[in-house]
Amino acid sequence: MKEVLLTGTSGYLGHALAKMLEPQFELKRLTARLAEIQPESLHPDCVIHLAGALRHRETECFETNFLGFQSLLKGLAHPKIPIVYFSSRAVYAPHSEPLQEDSPLASAEAYGQSKIQAERLLLASGHPFLILRPTLIWGWNGEQAGRSFIAQAAKRLMRQETLTLYLPPRNHDSLYVQDLARWLPSLLSPGPHWNQAFNLAAPPTDFHTLILRLAQEVERQCGHSPQIQFQPGPPARAPLLSLAKFRQTFPQLGWTPEAQILKALVQGLKALPE
Ligand SMILES: NC(=O)c1ccc[n+]([C@@H]2O[C@H](COP(=O)([O-])OP(=O)(O)OC[C@H]3O[C@@H](n4cnc5c(N)ncnc54)[C@H](OP(=O)(O)O)[C@@H]3O)[C@@H](O)[C@H]2O)c1
Repeated sequence: MKEVLLTGTSGYLGHALAKMLEPQFELKRLTARLAEIQPESLHPDCVIHLAGALRHRETECFETNFLGFQSLLKGLAHPKIPIVYFSSRAVYAPHSEPLQEDSPLASAEAYGQSKIQAERLLLASGHPFLILRPTLIWGWNGEQAGRSFIAQAAKRLMRQETLTLYLPPRNHDSLYVQDLARWLPSLLSPGPHWNQAFNLAAPPTDFHTLILRLAQEVERQCGHSPQIQFQPGPPARAPLLSLAKFRQTFPQLGWTPEAQILKALVQGLKALPE
């Protein structure tokens, strides 16, 4: 695989992935808006499609995640270009058990619906594909901290603002942005894992314990005493992703220890200008 076209490179995930891919591949960054791509104008050997509207940009989800992806597909000059599509855990219907890749797809939200429609478009396109469904992605990417609750919590603790955590505590899965970047060359390699969907997450952790460890890291690096309060909250919404298929297919890929991720996150945020 020579030329890899990466979309969404200015974003949080795109920044981390571009850094990892650049030494190993001929990396092309899509600079146009998705809607402006000319038909059959793109000749990459592979596409990694990240450009998208996240959940908080609800009104843009259909336009960017579905119509924008349709425009990208039309822009490809050849019918058999491998495409890695970044979907989301948001595609799944509520489920009491950990979500398997073949769990029912249904979403009440614009974000999840637009990702389901884009996945269907990809399946119908005839291009070889890899659908990746990550959970919440967090951690320092070399330049940005992302939009996750954990990043927002770190900023609040560093500003010595009170952080509120909901009771009862709950398990949550998340994924370190640099782990995903590190895994990418293996995911891109040829093999029987193509033309499938994969859940991407780290093993679930107790969310309160994670935030309390984050507070300890802030205290260690900034000298601030954490200000955390607890209050009863709504029941946990998101079920966990099953990692069985990912573990079985890529047994060599592991996860970075949490302490290292927290240290890098706080160090990165500390170095940012006020
Ligand atoms: N972050 C997570 O926790 C997470 C979890 C699961 C899945 N994902 C998926 O991973 C992908 C990347 O997420 P992210 O966190 O990196 O998002 P992000 O920081 O918001 O970045 C989105 C990227 O898409 C580009 N983009 C948006 N609309 C576009 C358009 N119409 N034409 C061209 N480029 C456009 C943005 O460029 P501009 O800034 O120039 O608009 C930006 O580079 C998304 O598809 C998201 O759904 C993310």
